[in-house]
Amino acid sequence: MPKKYNVCVLGATGMVGREMIKVLEQRNFPVDKFLPLASERTAGQKVTFQNKEYTVKEATSESFEEMQIGLFSAGAKISAKFAPEAAKRKCIVIDNTSHFRMDPKVPLVVPEVNPEALKTHKGIIANPNCSTAQMVLALKPIYDAVGIERLVISTYQSTSGWGKEAIAEMYEQTKALLENPKAKIVPKYIFKQIAFNVVPQIDSFVDNGYTKEEMKMINETRKILGDEDIQITATCVRVPVAIGHAESVNIKTKKKISVEAVRKLLATFPTVKIVDDPSMGEYPTPIDCVGIDDTLVGRIREDISQKNGIEMWIVSDNLRRGAALNAVLIAEKMIEDSLV
Ligand SMILES: NC(=O)c1ccc[n+]([C@@H]2O[C@H](COP(=O)([O-])OP(=O)(O)OC[C@H]3O[C@@H](n4cnc5c(N)ncnc54)[C@H](OP(=O)(O)O)[C@@H]3O)[C@@H](O)[C@H]2O)c1
Repeated sequence: MPKKYNVCVLGATGMVGREMIKVLEQRNFPVDKFLPLASERTAGQKVTFQNKEYTVKEATSESFEEMQIGLFSAGAKISAKFAPEAAKRKCIVIDNTSHFRMDPKVPLVVPEVNPEALKTHKGIIANPNCSTAQMVLALKPIYDAVGIERLVISTYQSTSGWGKEAIAEMYEQTKALLENPKAKIVPKYIFKQIAFNVVPQIDSFVDNGYTKEEMKMINETRKILGDEDIQITATCVRVPVAIGHAESVNIKTKKKISVEAVRKLLATFPTVKIVDDPSMGEYPTPIDCVGIDDTLVGRIREDISQKNGIEMWIVSDNLRRGAALNAVLIAEKMIEDSLV
């Protein structure tokens, strides 16, 4: 009999947590005991996993007592509080929040890109920011082949990336404005009106004028690729899309690489799929990636403004690839490498 593991999902009632439960089920993850955790607000709610109904419990330090794997997605403060408690109780934490990502003692992992980092874990492993995870998948084969000198990134990020309240806010504003174009909109979760608009702010601003989200992309990309010398700039923008982040990425490579060579590299890289036929009007859009594992890449072309420049458009399901699937793939890899 293959070994089974006691698994808890902290944030089980959230956007990412619900997707985690779905991914665990779809991949037939070897779960023995299953424990969905959230706050006191939703404790008592029911979730279904593998055709069985489970009651959501309020998370406490003791929740992790019998658990072996904890998938965390309840926000940075909650992870700061509970991840050390879980690790102390021998429950390995795979954390989706930003709290531990830049901690030098904590591996930050996309399993197809830097699985070797898992070997150094001390009980907590960090999942990258969703926009970073999808981008490094498309960058890794290019990085290995010719090196990367500089990246210029612009993102078009969906509202689900800011949690369940943000996606609901987009729907409410859209409905209100369709019913009455003069309706007064008071933004609550997203910084400005998101219905029929785009907002160039994701997370708060830091001293250098960038947002935290932009700095996450810069710092996390360097950590995952293990290269502090890559020059990176990013502008992260919220768009009125429910699920799926899109990114325009301009890559300056160290050595010249042709568009054809980039296509060949991406075509064989796991969980990356090229959708790119301008003659047929084919390129990926966010609705194409919802619910799928693959990161879709299109609009691959040579940058005509500089030497060694490649442009591409990367689209992926932020809840799934950028968060839930990445976490479950980490857990699977740890089992495969006997690290649990
Ligand atoms: N959305 C994405 O695309 C994405 C991608 C990567 C990483 N992340 C990160 O994942 C985390 C969750 O994101 P989300 O989008 O799933 O947010 P969400 O939809 O707002 O869900 C938040 C979850 O955390 C739980 N929670 C809140 N306070 C808690 C507390 N005091 N104790 C226990 N549980 C608590 C909530 O439970 P209640 O229902 O009881 O409030 C809910 O289950 C965030 O740190 C986010 O940055 C999100």
